[in-house]
Amino acid sequence: MKLAIHHTPGSFSDRWIDYCRNNAIPYTLVDCYRNDIMEQLKDCDALMWHWHHGDYKAVRFARQLTYSLEAAGKLVFPDSKTVWHFDDKVGQKYLAEALNAPMVPSFVFYDKTQALDWINTTTFPKVFKLRGGAGASNVRLVKDAAAARKLAGKAFGRGFAARDRFNRFIDAVWRLKRDKNGAAFLGLFRGIGRIFIPTMYEKMHGREKGYLYFQEFMPENNFDTRIIAINGKAFAIRRYNREGDFRASGSGLIGYERKLFDERCVRITLDLAEKMQAQSLALDFIYDPQQQPLIVEMSYGFATPVYDKCTGYWDMDLNWHEGPFVPQHFMVDAMLGQIAKQKPAYT
Ligand SMILES: Nc1ncnc2c1ncn2[C@@H]1O[C@H](COP(=O)(O)OP(=O)(O)O)[C@@H](O)[C@H]1O
Ligand SMILES: [Mg+2]
Repeated sequence: MKLAIHHTPGSFSDRWIDYCRNNAIPYTLVDCYRNDIMEQLKDCDALMWHWHHGDYKAVRFARQLTYSLEAAGKLVFPDSKTVWHFDDKVGQKYLAEALNAPMVPSFVFYDKTQALDWINTTTFPKVFKLRGGAGASNVRLVKDAAAARKLAGKAFGRGFAARDRFNRFIDAVWRLKRDKNGAAFLGLFRGIGRIFIPTMYEKMHGREKGYLYFQEFMPENNFDTRIIAINGKAFAIRRYNREGDFRASGSGLIGYERKLFDERCVRITLDLAEKMQAQSLALDFIYDPQQQPLIVEMSYGFATPVYDKCTGYWDMDLNWHEGPFVPQHFMVDAMLGQIAKQKPAYT
């Protein structure tokens, strides 16, 4: 039995490697970006690769590599069931509808006439999103039909930059106001530069167009709740909105106390992860006016250090396990479990 790990410093792999070393779990390091990746994986049972949606190279081929390995009976983290909808809010809308998961009502159009017909008859405000992006960078409030028509014109015309540069600049201003330190000041300079210079991701990705996506706006949410389920265990953070803004993700204002969390959201996440057979599922929740929790988006990955301050986790029966834990270890344990199921002779 051997695991293959693609190591990207600062990603999950730091802790995967530590865990393997400390527990004598056989592993080898591989480089997924090399042409001979299949050869490198020849004597391995599973590949673990924490790839990020902002890695324009990974986005080009990570899914294709994953599906190909699965076709050969190898295990992967994240596998196809876990990752196909990653950084794709349009895909997530269909998935939630197919599985009857409670998601904020979402609308997608692939044709300008249909989009305009809908805009002319629906109510506002609505929330406009691109299918990709994180930290609320591609999420905007649309106040009226005129603004929505303008977005439709752009969606079926020139299209949008894959990452909203102006939003990034506004965020840099927000971080300076929040932190008032040197790093935030530097970030603002970078943000100003970024208004004019596209990132490599933007250049490589091309423009987002040919679809228009809106969500029903859920008013009076001053935070969102993120629940992450891995291998039957769930943990949570609360993110408060930026000052004077309806958007929470990316604000950096985070709450960890157990009493902040609605166990209905935990239940939904654990159940949906099981139904989807997802190895790792992160759901962002807000509330409708009747205080029912609704999913705003799904993901598989997350920023490691943010969750180190979680004070415990829930199991499948919603029992609370107080104390520190390492979610990346849950991932390796799950992978070893999957290998054992597939190859009982090795255990
Ligand atoms: N339909 C909505 N109604 C109200 N607030 C929303 C809605 N959708 C998103 N938000 C807010 O905007 C933030 C970013 O939206 P989200 O879809 O999660 O995008 P991202 O992928 O950038 O995190 C959320 O954290 C939430 O606070
Ligand atoms: Mg989000």
